[in-house]
Formats: sequence, structure tokens, C-alpha cells
Amino acid sequence: MANTILVGAQWGDEGKGKIIDVLTESADIVVRTQGGNNAGHTVLIGKTKYVLHLIPSGILRPGKKCVIGNGVVIDPIGLIEELDGLRKMKVKVNGNLFISETAHLVLPYHRELDEQREILKGKHKIGTTKRGIGPAYGDKAARTGLRMIDLINPERFERLLKMRIKENNEVLKAFGAKPLSFNRVFAEYRAAGDRLKPFVTNTVVMLDREGRNGANILFEGAQGTFLDIDHGTYPFVTSSNTTAGGACTGSGVAPHRMDRVVGVMKAYTTRVGEGPLPTENAEIADMLHAMGREFGATTGRPRRCGWFDSVATRHATMVNGIDELAVTNLDGLDTVETIKVCIGYRIGMNRYDYVPNDIEAFGKCVPIYAEFPGWLRETHNARRWKDLPARARSYLKAIAELSGAKLTIASVGPSREQTIFL
Ligand code: IMP
Repeated sequence: MANTILVGAQWGDEGKGKIIDVLTESADIVVRTQGGNNAGHTVLIGKTKYVLHLIPSGILRPGKKCVIGNGVVIDPIGLIEELDGLRKMKVKVNGNLFISETAHLVLPYHRELDEQREILKGKHKIGTTKRGIGPAYGDKAARTGLRMIDLINPERFERLLKMRIKENNEVLKAFGAKPLSFNRVFAEYRAAGDRLKPFVTNTVVMLDREGRNGANILFEGAQGTFLDIDHGTYPFVTSSNTTAGGACTGSGVAPHRMDRVVGVMKAYTTRVGEGPLPTENAEIADMLHAMGREFGATTGRPRRCGWFDSVATRHATMVNGIDELAVTNLDGLDTVETIKVCIGYRIGMNRYDYVPNDIEAFGKCVPIYAEFPGWLRETHNARRWKDLPARARSYLKAIAELSGAKLTIASVGPSREQTIFL
């Protein structure tokens, strides 16, 4: 496998965890490059379900090296909980996990501020995961962040944390929130630092060395294109670059070392949190929720659901340079008689064939739909392209063509076996 960047082509939750797991088979190293424990990647192996938030899902395959890159924001306590959870499930994490020295930390004041800002925004809230992601990236950009390299240096961590807690307590007090105790935070995070220290290293140098030795690297994206801080539906976005470029800046691996970009998208559309979703549809949401599908892996929130939006996925192909597409959750549409696909937007008399940057205009977009006859047959037992009903094949081909990239994977269920390679 060549060096591959995998991105979400919609609003996150495209089923990336499973596709990453499948592609990891032919990778040597898997790297997370952005986001934090706001992400939730679900992988089903046999009957066991694993939900990963920070650690690359490559950890579930023995012998693969996993890297948490410099572009990730790490909540040390969350990371330790995840490590302990994996150990309990008999997953080996020693010697195959590498954490960047320069990854920034998510600290308790970030989580508090995330929550307080959302409360203050009232009905204009973003609907964040309240994991402190925005404030942590905010500190990174303001150059007031603390990094893994600081966490594992007790004297420096103490000095920097003292300053940061002092300042952030003033802000928390202004919000009417409870200030934090330096002693308590310091003790808890220092202990976390000691436990994480063996994993912390210069991952940029490591990836360069491994790459030169011929390792195949898979860069696993978290969230999705329209949650990108630059290219998403700002301000209803997360605070990192979820698009392909983020894989380079978030790992230190240069663009010319990347060989292909795989975009993952659902056969329909979902979104968690606030912000426009032109194809949102209550009927399809009710149907999917009744099937027990589409509840967030991190927050458990029911996801908003809608028809497939090819204007959005075409845009995703453009900003990510997607070469290949993996379509997931095809089986979610098995019982739908007539399937709609958005092929353009209309605002009044104006037609849009791209996603408008003006969030208010995007909020007013009315989808123009094409209709496809449903296949009305279960697809989750299909293992080869020819096992799929002809109408399902036509649907997949149509949405890939509309999205502007080559369909290479179709997924008909959560397990590894329910994957069709074209
Ligand atoms: P934050 O990343 O917690 O700041 O949340 C910002 C927005 O991104 C909210 O709408 C969240 O619901 C959304 N978001 C963050 N992480 C994920 C994810 O992994 N999947 C889907 N949506 C996400």
C-alpha cells in the first residue's frame, strides 16, 4: 500500500473507523494527525466492539505501529482511560504506540471554557462535544498552549500550568464558573505525564526514518470535510484541518510523500451538532434511529440524518484531492422505496452547484433532487460486487460519479467481512 490519506467526505461519522481498520491490513504505520477525543472511531472485530477516541484503530492489529501526531490535541486523562480500556480488552499497547512531543494538551480549563462558551451562545451554540477541543486549539494558535513535551518535564509543567491556571481562572470567574485548583490539576496531570512518558517521542523524525525504509503509512482523518476549520461550514465546525492537507501539517510528512487520498462517505448524510444540513429529512432520521443506527460514538447524541448530498461530496473531492471513494452504510437504505440524491441547491431563482461560503446562504439552500429506485433487499450479506442488487450497484455508481472520484470500497455492515472491494 502506498502512503494513503483517509478523510471523511461529509460531516464526520462516515464510518472511517471501519475503513481505516480494513486498510490497516496493508499498512505498517497508522497516524492520527488532527482532532482530539471529540472523535469516536468504532471498529467491530468478531463480536467485540471497540470505540477509539485518540489512539489510531491500527492498535487493534498486532504488529502495526500507531502514531498520535503533532496536529492532535491530547487530553492526557482521556488517553490513559483509553489505554486502560484497551489493556482490559487484551489489546497490546506497549512498544507500538508513539505520541508526538509537540502535540498540544487539552487541560481542564479548556473543557470548562468549551462548556461555558456554549452556554453563553445559547441558541447560537455550535453543539460541540464539550471535550475542550476549540479552546485547546485556540491556545495553540495564541501560543499559550502546553504540549506533551511540557507534560513530561515536571518543573516546566509546574511553571507553565501555574501561569495558565491563574489566567484561565480569571476567565472562568467572569463566566460565573468555579475556578480550578492548581494543586489538584497538577497532581493529576503529572501522574498522567509519568504514565505517558514512555510513549512520547519525536514522531516527525520517526516517520521520516520509517518512510525512507519503505514503510507504508496510513493517515487516518478524524471528523469530516465540512467540519474543517477552513473549508467547513464555519463557525459550525471543529477547530482543526480535517481535510487532506491536515495530514501533512499534523504529522510532519511532506505532501510529495503522499500517494493517494481515500474519501469515506455514507450512502446518505448525517451530522451531529448545529449548523446547516440542506438534505436533512425527518423520515430518514426516524427510520435510521428506529434501526438503532446513527447515535454518536463519543456523546451518544442522535445524529441528524438526510439524503446523500453530491454537491457536498463533490466539494470534498475538490478540497481533499480524493482519488478513491469508500461508501459505507449502504445497508441503511435497504428498506427505502425511493432514494433521493441532492444534485444541486436552489436559493430563490439562483442555482448553486457548489457549497456557498456564506453560512446564511447555505442555510437557505433548498436541495434539487434526483430519484433512484430502492433495491428493497437486504445487502449486509453481500461480499462481492455482483452479490449486490443491480439497483444498489447503480446507486453506488451514480453517487461516486456525482462525487467525482472512483468507487473502490462499498461497506454493507460494521464488521471487517462486510466489505466489498471493487
Ligand atoms: P468540537 O470538535 O467538540 O469542538 O465540536 C464542533 C463540531 O464538530 C460539533 O458540531 C460536533 O458535533 C462536531 N464533531 C466533532 N467531532 C466529531 C466527530 O468525530 N464526528 C462528528 N462530528 C464531530
